[in-house]
Amino acid sequence: MELPFAESYKIKMVEPIRKSSRQERETWIREAGYNLFRLKSTQVFIDLLTDSGTGAMSDKQWSEMMIGDESYAGATSYFKMKNAILDILGFEYFLPTHQGRAAENVLFSVLIKEGDIIPGNSHFDTTKGHIEFRRAQAIDCTIDEAFDTTLDHPFKGNIDLGKLEAVLNEHSDEIPFIIVTVTCNSSGGQPVSLENLKMVRQIADKYGKLVLFDSARFAENAYFIKMREKGCEDKSIRTIVREMFENADMMTMSAKKDAIVNMGGFIAMRSKELHTKASVFNIMFEGYITYGGMSGRDMNALAQGLYEGSEFEYLETRIRQVEYLGKKLMDFGIPVQQPIGGHAVFLDAKRFLPHLPKEEFQAQTLAVELYLEAGVRGVEIGALLADRDPITRKNRYPALELMRLAIPRRVYTNNHMDVVAVALKNIYDRRDAIRRGFKIIYEAPIMRHFTVALDLV
Ligand code: F0G
Repeated sequence: MELPFAESYKIKMVEPIRKSSRQERETWIREAGYNLFRLKSTQVFIDLLTDSGTGAMSDKQWSEMMIGDESYAGATSYFKMKNAILDILGFEYFLPTHQGRAAENVLFSVLIKEGDIIPGNSHFDTTKGHIEFRRAQAIDCTIDEAFDTTLDHPFKGNIDLGKLEAVLNEHSDEIPFIIVTVTCNSSGGQPVSLENLKMVRQIADKYGKLVLFDSARFAENAYFIKMREKGCEDKSIRTIVREMFENADMMTMSAKKDAIVNMGGFIAMRSKELHTKASVFNIMFEGYITYGGMSGRDMNALAQGLYEGSEFEYLETRIRQVEYLGKKLMDFGIPVQQPIGGHAVFLDAKRFLPHLPKEEFQAQTLAVELYLEAGVRGVEIGALLADRDPITRKNRYPALELMRLAIPRRVYTNNHMDVVAVALKNIYDRRDAIRRGFKIIYEAPIMRHFTVALDLV
């Protein structure tokens, strides 16, 4: 008999979590304005709000914390991080930042001016926020297949090269760089193929443009390339990672994902000149160039995390768990984005609750139902997140209305996944009885989903 699959680690430390009653949850969610971000973590049983900063560090990472160098300038921890970035990603220059959006803020302060256009594959919300904040525009050039959740395409994060060239032809002068998000979070944690990355590079060269990788989940992307792309099956993850990044001039990284730390990020680049320019903004917004918003111990843990996060056995354990949950849901007939993504399972709320109007926020309604059912916290990736058009101020209704269940790294067991799956089955069985969605009673002018307050329609 073939031995079953098992995790590539064992558990050394545990953190108790608490169940609650439905009655308690009804009160808590009402008090939170039906916004899951506004719940206390103690009011949540299984927290799948995000895989960002929620992973469990390893014994080696914790050991690194103890030997962090907290010198203001030139700390050994800075050089540890520098060496790891050069070794794994191949970039000579880098700047630490406190997280991914800080990296965007610093880099975009150098590269983006009002009126610019930044084409890419479904820009993440903070990325788009930092573009629009500078009165520039993000244009989504993701392949059409990504927007049909029933289609099983191996690389739904791919850039549509035709769409990209059309934007470049029309707006070449306004385009400072092209952005590729690996994996593409907004389209469902979907990977970009190595071939697509190479083609984007070729097109960028043709038009003399820089290429930026938004790299939060670069290692998960490399895993999918190994598993799905012809000719890559025998390559190591590290080799694939190097081949991916050969196609980029620069990267921003939220290290809270694939570097498995609770806080941290960086910008890395090949150009010394860009590093010099970005250093000015890094010092202003983040901190001196050898710590940029991170403590020495955190830089140590990040360096170690880059190595662990790009190991095949770790990635296999991680992505198989996400797949385990996704497959359970599919077996129950629940509509999910297919194939299952790297860091999360995305439920198609338009197909789950087709009878609710989009103006009542279907994905948010589903997320609230899941919380009420089992104390599980997911997150809306739909019309609330899509926010209003910055110019017309009209609500934007994205092609996909999704509820995301993001799985923290090395945190939950498959028993937890079973609870989530059954809770969703129960909701799916009674979906026709869900008749009331939500209306907004408070919203911030930008990135409203974090603080929005809602009420039942
Ligand atoms: N880029 C991508 C693709 C992301 O998924 C995120 C964060 C960021 C940039 C920003 O990084 O949070 O460190 O400032 N995504 C988290 C999520 C918040 O839940 O998907 P950050």
